[in-house]
Formats: sequence, structure tokens, C-alpha cells
Amino acid sequence: MPDKPNIAIAGITGAVGQEMARCLEQRNFPIGNLKLLASARSAGKKIQFKDQELTVEELTGDSFGNTDIALFSAGGDISRKYAPLAAEAGATVIDNSSAFRMDDDVPLIVPEINPNDAACHKGIIANPNCTTIVTLMGLNPLHREWHADKIIASSYQAVSGSGAAGILELETQVKALTEGHPVQTSVYPHQIAFNVIPQVDVFLENGYTKEEMKMENESRKILDNKELCASVTCVRVPVYRSHSVSVTAQFREKPDVEKARALINAAPGVDVCDNPSEGLFPTPLDTTAKDNCLVGRIRQDIVLENALTFWVVGDQVRKGAALNAVQIAELLI
Ligand code: A2P
Repeated sequence: MPDKPNIAIAGITGAVGQEMARCLEQRNFPIGNLKLLASARSAGKKIQFKDQELTVEELTGDSFGNTDIALFSAGGDISRKYAPLAAEAGATVIDNSSAFRMDDDVPLIVPEINPNDAACHKGIIANPNCTTIVTLMGLNPLHREWHADKIIASSYQAVSGSGAAGILELETQVKALTEGHPVQTSVYPHQIAFNVIPQVDVFLENGYTKEEMKMENESRKILDNKELCASVTCVRVPVYRSHSVSVTAQFREKPDVEKARALINAAPGVDVCDNPSEGLFPTPLDTTAKDNCLVGRIRQDIVLENALTFWVVGDQVRKGAALNAVQIAELLI
């Protein structure tokens, strides 16, 4: 990898694509040339990066000659079609979609958890599901100490998880309702403004959604723990961009609340925010546009043995997607 790799962002006009560019800029990522790619609809748009005005180009099969690192966030179909072409052209792809996450020869990386797995990539590295990343940022320090085998969790997922269109739908519905107009729904199956929707992604035969099963499948791969079982309910809430997850984790060994706080505080990328007597616990607004996830409400679970219950919050667009992808790119240089 050159000292200053040539970077391409596929999906630059999306919520995550925009944040990827912001992360590269804020972290002063060394860049040779930066190529900004989106659909034909966006070709010709101007985007400011540092002191340069760059022009968005249409993503095609020929976009990746001379690219060292290609960050993809344009949806699974685009990744399936173009990520292998980018890899064939010599780029290392960091893909934010779910297209390749469970492929055996594609590492699935959270840099604070399993950075060493990135080294064995064959041209594509996958960025995990945003809810899984946020959950594991809180769980991993505890898992390393006491070994988690079972988790029961409910998520409170921001509309940014549905991309720019999700954010616009919430904004538009709130405006319509406050002005007394009827609401239109297109991204979500029900009104999202002033409501919560217990469906994220499509339902599977077992009654769980695809999003809910990602937590089990992806966590097994990231934590290298094939025995981990997860029962998850994913809920879309009218929050712009941070996901929150209520997690009950059962461990092989007896956990301790004070030690859990110390372990989380000592871990990179995650902080404890937990003082209930002073009303201190993290809310989605506390992590918006921030890098670190926050954990609060840590307590001994009163139903399950050897279990802790906690609340973890993280910016979905940032640590759940763009920042994690840029951190993976940092592992490559
Ligand atoms: P465009 O804005 O030109 O449609 P989000 O998830 O926030 O909605 O963003 C999706 C991203 O994927 C956008 O940058 C969007 O570009 C891009 N995209 C969607 N369809 C295509 C396509 N057919 N080719 C290239 N990029 C695409």
C-alpha cells in the first residue's frame, strides 16, 4: 500500500458516503487522489474536500483503475456488482453493505475488536452491521473477561440507518404533522414521526428479521465465538442518527458491575456514562457526530444468572458505518 493511497468513495452523495469523506478529512488520512462516485443522477455535482472542489463521477466498471482503497456505501446491489470489479482492478474494497459479510474469505472487522483478521483479506473487507458494531463496542470488553454465550437485546435504531431517504422521511413527516397535513410514507411501512416501528429489514421464516439475525451471525464471526446465541428485536425510532441498544448478556463466569465499568472505560472507542443517582446515562443525542460509543445503566441482571444488563449508544453514521470503514482503511496503511 502506498504511503498516500488513491481512494475512491462509491456512494459519496449518501449519508454514509458524506460521512466517510468527513472522517477522512478530520482524521487527516493520507490521500494521493480522491475519486467521488455516485449514480449518473449525481455526476457533475461539486463536493468540497479540504481546500479542493471535487466533481462527482458516475460509478461504472471502469471507475477503479489506479485506486488503492475503495470505500463502498451505495447499497448491496451496487456492492455485489462493482466491489469484485474494484478488487480485480487492484483496489482493496471496504464494503459497508451486507453483501459479503458472511463470506468465509471476507474479513468482518471492528478495528477495536478484531483488527488482525483484516490482514487475510482477498481484496474485500466488510464493515459490520451498524447495530452489531454499537452492541459489540459495549459487549466486547465484558466478553473478553467473562465470555458471553447468550445475549438478549432490543435496539432503538435511528432513521439514518435507512440512508438519506430515511432522514428525509422523518423530517418531512414531522413538518407535515406540525403543519396539520397528512403524512406520506415511502421508506418505512408505517409513519415513523412520533411513532416506533418494530421492523428493521425483512422478516424471515423464524419470525425474526434479517437485521435481527445479523447480530447473531456477525457477532459470532467478529468475536470468533460460534456458540454465541442472540435473541434480538430491532426497532426503528424517530431519532436522526444514533442507535441505542438495550443488552442483557449472559456470561460463562460471574460478572461484576464495578469491574464491568472499569473494563469498558479501559477499552478503546467506548466510554462509561453511568451514574443513575445523578440521572447520568447516554442518550442518542450524546453520541451524535462523536466517535466513541457510550455505555450506561450497567447492572446485575435479576432474571438470568451470571448476566449483566446495559444500555449502549453510538452514532450509526459514524462508528456504525463511516468511521469504522475509515478505521479499517487505517489498518491497511
Ligand atoms: P445518488 O445520490 O446519485 O443516487 P443513501 O444510502 O444515503 O441513500 O445513499 C446511497 C448512495 O448510493 C448515494 O450516494 C447514491 O447516489 C448511491 N447510488 C444509488 N444507486 C446507485 C447506482 N446505481 N450507481 C451508483 N451509485 C448509486
